[in-house]
Amino acid sequence: MNNKLIVANWKSHKTIEEGASWLEKFAQEISPNDLSDKTVVLCPAFQALAIYVPLVMALKPPLLLGAQDVSAFEEGAYTGEVSAKMLQELVDYVIIGHSERRTYMHETDIDVAHKVVMAKKYELTTIVCIQSEHTPVAHNADIIAYEPPAAIGTGHPATLDDIESVAKVIKRKHPHVKFLYGGSISEENIAHFMKSSLLDGLLVGGASLEAQQFASLLKQW
Ligand code: PGA
Repeated sequence: MNNKLIVANWKSHKTIEEGASWLEKFAQEISPNDLSDKTVVLCPAFQALAIYVPLVMALKPPLLLGAQDVSAFEEGAYTGEVSAKMLQELVDYVIIGHSERRTYMHETDIDVAHKVVMAKKYELTTIVCIQSEHTPVAHNADIIAYEPPAAIGTGHPATLDDIESVAKVIKRKHPHVKFLYGGSISEENIAHFMKSSLLDGLLVGGASLEAQQFASLLKQW
């Protein structure tokens, strides 16, 4: 598959101003040709999404926006929650069940399944994170991202052999989903992972935080 999906997850980084200056720098670094065979989804924190909608659309080519989480509740008295109905006005994609949310916010597989249902109801494309081939996957997920915790933010990505063996299991069980890998992807190693025909794309955390570094990462294949 030549149109690979690259998802930049900024996690809990960047004020609105910092993100806007990232977008300005990114626009200077990238040309339409660099992205002709790629779909790039930028996932900033919630507070910036509404402001970035016109900014990402003004880029050539435009980037797509994603949220890093979504509420399991549709609407109502759920203080602090951001619902799929609200996100539908702003983003096309949503990451669900990232291992950091499972670890620090104690999110369970059941929470993840409820979030997927809500996201699908409001036509968001769901990127559901799994930690191994044994993580239960909601049957209606659109994209599954394999993110072994030992590879996240450590500088030690999983091996291509490991990723491909998980990809085979997942694709057998869920033939219509796209399969991504995330964990310590960098400018130096991205080309190695991109040669796998079993991988539909990558989720990039730390290496997406600097505009120049992320643009150069996108140009590596
Ligand atoms: P990392 O994060 O690229 O910083 O390892 C990946 C992720 O958690 O999405």
